[in-house]
Amino acid sequence: MRINKYLALCGVSSRRNSEVFVVEGKVKINGRTVTDLATDVKDADIVTVNGVRVSPVEQHIYIMLNKPKGYVCTTSDEYGRKNVLQLLSEEYADKRIFPVGRLDFDTEGLLLLTTDGDLANRIMHPHNEVPKTYVAKVEGEISESELGKLRGGVLLDGVRTKKCKAKLKDFSEGISRVEVVITEGRNRQVRRMFDSINREVVFLKRTAIGELKLGNLYRGMSRALNDKEVEYLKKL
Ligand code: URA
Repeated sequence: MRINKYLALCGVSSRRNSEVFVVEGKVKINGRTVTDLATDVKDADIVTVNGVRVSPVEQHIYIMLNKPKGYVCTTSDEYGRKNVLQLLSEEYADKRIFPVGRLDFDTEGLLLLTTDGDLANRIMHPHNEVPKTYVAKVEGEISESELGKLRGGVLLDGVRTKKCKAKLKDFSEGISRVEVVITEGRNRQVRRMFDSINREVVFLKRTAIGELKLGNLYRGMSRALNDKEVEYLKKL
């Protein structure tokens, strides 16, 4: 990597400003002053600026994926099913990226992937109660009283789910589309909540995590989060 880019990654200054440090003879690689801007830095090199060692600040990766159904989020699957990491572009192949939480094999929608373990833990930690929005489709017209049961909490394995939001978005061609916002992340929670009121979910999609929305990202496609989105997640 070129010396100016390396210095910028170390947080020394912008790439252009870093060139000034080099030209002024303030930069050494392995103890030897370098003034040539075409100098490359290799992995094992020791770089100093004004005698102080510098090294690159870790650059984390933050991606959103529109997970299609038919993919697992675990990296090793006993049935050899396709993995969400296979949907990412080649440039990420050698990075230690992992999904933030899970979506079931049959569930689609917004999945975050990152190299940032701290951020992932914060989003997933139950204490932080990050709201997750899902759209669930069930057959037949769901009633207000059924939605009320979901909102108030239902028993799953003897433990009541926390209060949540549940509203009917529309009912058409015999299918109810229900938007559910939960702040927990129990195993297959949304499907099991509907099961508990004797409704089978025939389609499930996550559309948002907090205020981060899937938007119109195509199924199976991914994109890097922008700075504003990353900042937002870091404040959760
Ligand atoms: N709830 C579910 O039932 N499945 C998911 O994948 C996520 C939430």
